[in-house]
Amino acid sequence: MKPESQINLNKEKLLKDYTELSLADFFDIPGNDIYERAGDFAEYVKETKKRKHYNYRRVSATGAAPVMTIIDRYTGREKEMIYLASNDYLNLTRHPKTIAAGMVALEKYGTGAGSVPLLGGTLDIHIELEEKIARFKGCKDAVIFTSGFGSNCGTLMSMLNQNDVAILDILDHASIVEGCKNTNIKLFKHNDLDYLEKVLKRYSSKFRTKLIAVDGVYSMDGDIAPLDRIVELAKAYGAYVMVDEAHASGVIGSNGRGTPEHFHIEGKVDIVAGTFSKALGTVGGFIAASEELAEYIRFFSKTYMFSTAMTPQVAGSLIAGLDVIENEPELRSRLWTNIRYFKGNLLDLGFNIGNSETAIFPIIIGDDLLVKEACSELHERGIYVNPVLYPAVQKNQSRIRISLTSKHTREHLDETLNALEDVFIKPKQNAELIKQKCVV
Ligand SMILES: Cc1ncc(COP(=O)(O)O)c(C=O)c1O
Repeated sequence: MKPESQINLNKEKLLKDYTELSLADFFDIPGNDIYERAGDFAEYVKETKKRKHYNYRRVSATGAAPVMTIIDRYTGREKEMIYLASNDYLNLTRHPKTIAAGMVALEKYGTGAGSVPLLGGTLDIHIELEEKIARFKGCKDAVIFTSGFGSNCGTLMSMLNQNDVAILDILDHASIVEGCKNTNIKLFKHNDLDYLEKVLKRYSSKFRTKLIAVDGVYSMDGDIAPLDRIVELAKAYGAYVMVDEAHASGVIGSNGRGTPEHFHIEGKVDIVAGTFSKALGTVGGFIAASEELAEYIRFFSKTYMFSTAMTPQVAGSLIAGLDVIENEPELRSRLWTNIRYFKGNLLDLGFNIGNSETAIFPIIIGDDLLVKEACSELHERGIYVNPVLYPAVQKNQSRIRISLTSKHTREHLDETLNALEDVFIKPKQNAELIKQKCVV
């Protein structure tokens, strides 16, 4: 018999609790089977939509671009929006060279690779891409995967087990955490090197393989891991280092090669991981490492071995995209001009943007309901930004996440800044004025 359900959201309770509820409340309700949980969640989603707080899965009719057309869920009509939720930092999704190279590969090889890479699915352009990405990252070899999540997760699963330890920054991406589920995980405070050293001191003699895994650029905060010091510490304690370059490739480093280049330590990081889905504008992931480790991963990573190889068209676009990053540095310069302008203005307006140093800006509000309301108001004004709520971030850290691209114009940025000021700053100033008048 099914155990007594501990939380059963009836409609009234849901309405009463709406402001207190988060996704975490629906994930593991003790005693509720999956269909009961899904049923409760469906009620929550219905309420979220009724309140116009469902700012997820907005449907684009045009694809990623600084301004894009979406089909508005609430009106059913097309709506033009300034799109500030994309990771397409250099706008390579629409670069003529990436499009042309994708089409050439599509024509030449067809729509699919036909098989898994080890058993018939490897094309010559996959090898070309592996070589190119390895060179780009200053490593001897690289393995390419069909998703960034799968590359992190599959690589870590193949490398670490119960005899080993993964030492992770508490803000590491879910794909890293998921990949470490079968090993011992020790967490350290975000970017805190003293804490990291304490963990290394305590655990490094107790395990076989010791691996520190961090994000180069943190996806919800836009700050950078102190990778040079992490590599030094790792060396001192006999640990390896893996860095996830998802939001760093194409963005930081004087040639856009990412965090190791930013800190002038190229070739000194054991495993450089990354995605093809952000600045490179397509989809997929990679691990760059030594030849021995890369070959080991090809045979022991299940997300590589048991998954069909990357489509030719994506591989073609990626080879062209890496050339664009190398040969058109002006795209990165424009992105950085936008970053500096936007950051300066956000700080002048008094927003808390944490330690953002890159193209990702968290506007930290700390109140889930306010974030949801603000996102809806910004949506009405044609500003497409994402709410980031608990459990994606800590409870008092809910925020709006904004990301910039090189092709956002000054007008796009000013319109966004004006809207943010109208939504967050002016109501506060008005309330303050009213309070002062009342006191007088
Ligand atoms: C830091 C980080 N690592 C890995 C991933 C996974 O990449 P992909 O979207 O290519 O699967 C993401 C993406 O969302 C990310 O932000």
